[in-house]
Amino acid sequence: MSKLKVAIQKKGRLSENSLKMLEECGIKFTNGTGKLKNEAKNFPLEVLFLRDDDIPYYVERQVADIGIVGENVVTEHNRSIEIIKQLNFGNCRLSLAIPREAVYTEIKWFNGKRVATSYPRILSDFFLKKGITAEIEEISGSVEIAPGIGLADAICDIVSTGSTLMSNGLAEVETVMNSQAVLIASKKMESDKQELLDRLLFRIMSVLNASGNKYILLNAPDSATSEICSILPGMKSPTIMPLAEKGWNSIHSVIREDEFWEVITRLRKAGAQGILVIPIEKMII
Ligand code: PRP
Ligand code: ZN
Repeated sequence: MSKLKVAIQKKGRLSENSLKMLEECGIKFTNGTGKLKNEAKNFPLEVLFLRDDDIPYYVERQVADIGIVGENVVTEHNRSIEIIKQLNFGNCRLSLAIPREAVYTEIKWFNGKRVATSYPRILSDFFLKKGITAEIEEISGSVEIAPGIGLADAICDIVSTGSTLMSNGLAEVETVMNSQAVLIASKKMESDKQELLDRLLFRIMSVLNASGNKYILLNAPDSATSEICSILPGMKSPTIMPLAEKGWNSIHSVIREDEFWEVITRLRKAGAQGILVIPIEKMII
């Protein structure tokens, strides 16, 4: 029987969350830290741990069928692969940063400067668009130390919490692109592999839907019930259950995380009491 081969980052920002996402999809692995491959126990899937920069190439060559990698890496490497889904984690930006003590007013600062980066393609496109002529120094890692050791005047690298920049005395001055983890796939997938990918994708969708939604329960008097139901559309419509105390109901529904605070305020105004909000683990639409 064929197995879906999934490439994920061996060591870095996306490693832990990539595995966590597969585990949230119900896929279990044997303990295998330090291994290059790991086979799932309960799904025909094998994980390959690779350098993130190599993942698009391995997927293009069908060494792996699919991969989890940052959009930044996909754009830089420009391989013949497909982006299947944005995964809502690993959010970061590719930014230009300069020594903290340098005086920065505008992007023209970069004219004639040397900029170290692992993203020469994205950066040269960006400079071209902005009309900047700078020298791009391509290095494959530890970019943030380049200004400190006299290799470059500035850097262009991934910023997530900003702590790497901070501890190297650098300040972020321009965003070049925003990025997050994406699921990529080979353009030539055999039908049995495609079937496995569809099964996995169904699970990923239910995890992503669940993480963007919350389950809400509240109590309300009969007089407020219809207004509260109009605020809480739910997946189909809210559930209304009578409480033991006459004239009161318990109302259950699902709300979107990004509308959460606004909805809560409206519910309280409408007369809702005892509001409980609970995370949802999976959501099948
Ligand atoms: C990036 C980048 C920094 C770090 C920034 O590495 O190179 O080292 O993340 O994160 P921070 O702002 O939270 O400090 P990444 O894991 O994306 O990949 P790489 O090691 O392959 O460059
Ligand atoms: Zn990398």
